Amino acid sequence: FFARPWVFIRGVPRMDVLPPEGPPEIAFAGRSNVGKSSLINALVGQKGLARTSNTPGRTQELNYFVPGGYSGEGADLPPIALVDMPGYGYAEAPKEQVDAWTSLVFDYLRGRSTLKRVFVLIDSRHGIKRNDADVLDLLDKAAVSYQIVLTKTDKIKPVGLPKLVAATHEAIRKRAAAFPEIVATSSEKGTGLDDLKAAITGFAAA
Ligand code: GTP
Ligand code: MG
Repeated sequence: FFARPWVFIRGVPRMDVLPPEGPPEIAFAGRSNVGKSSLINALVGQKGLARTSNTPGRTQELNYFVPGGYSGEGADLPPIALVDMPGYGYAEAPKEQVDAWTSLVFDYLRGRSTLKRVFVLIDSRHGIKRNDADVLDLLDKAAVSYQIVLTKTDKIKPVGLPKLVAATHEAIRKRAAAFPEIVATSSEKGTGLDDLKAAITGFAAA
């Protein structure tokens, strides 16, 4: 299904308008500007699918993307859905807005039975910050499987990468719901995409 053109199906501004639970969902979470929307575009090979921006706070709803060609009627459901999320942390928006996005993200992550895996994106220049750790705590508590994805590795010196990966391994070693393998990616260069695609494919409905 990565060979198909993907489509945007809906933006969800609030928990009470989530679509009914259907295909397995894979969510992309992370601080504002970490590169969530860019990574989705790189994975599906469609630059303009998810909107990206230099300004933190671009994505403001839970945006659902699925491979095209499925009617969504009856049994003709797409095998997987990718969910792009608003970022947490800093965003160029009023505080009430940011608080609303953050509770949407947290509520969704805690309470969605069809959510199979959360990719928690960490900027390779910054590492795991306090608010990232809060999200990891929540996922551990809710027993929602997650995997750390380092982003923008094209922006760091290659010699620094092994050290960063080792430090990140150490940071998640005792975390209950963390998948042990860390994926280093660059949406710009296409690094790490095959690993992520393989992981996503493994969760797709047959
Ligand atoms: P919000 O929706 O605001 O939370 O941000 P986001 O996490 O979706 O980030 P987005 O994909 O919009 O990317 C933010 C900025 O980082 C954009 O200017 C991207 O071009 C840039 N960016 C994303 N991925 C990469 C990458 O792998 N390498 C480089 N060099 N820049 C990247
Ligand atoms: Mg975004």
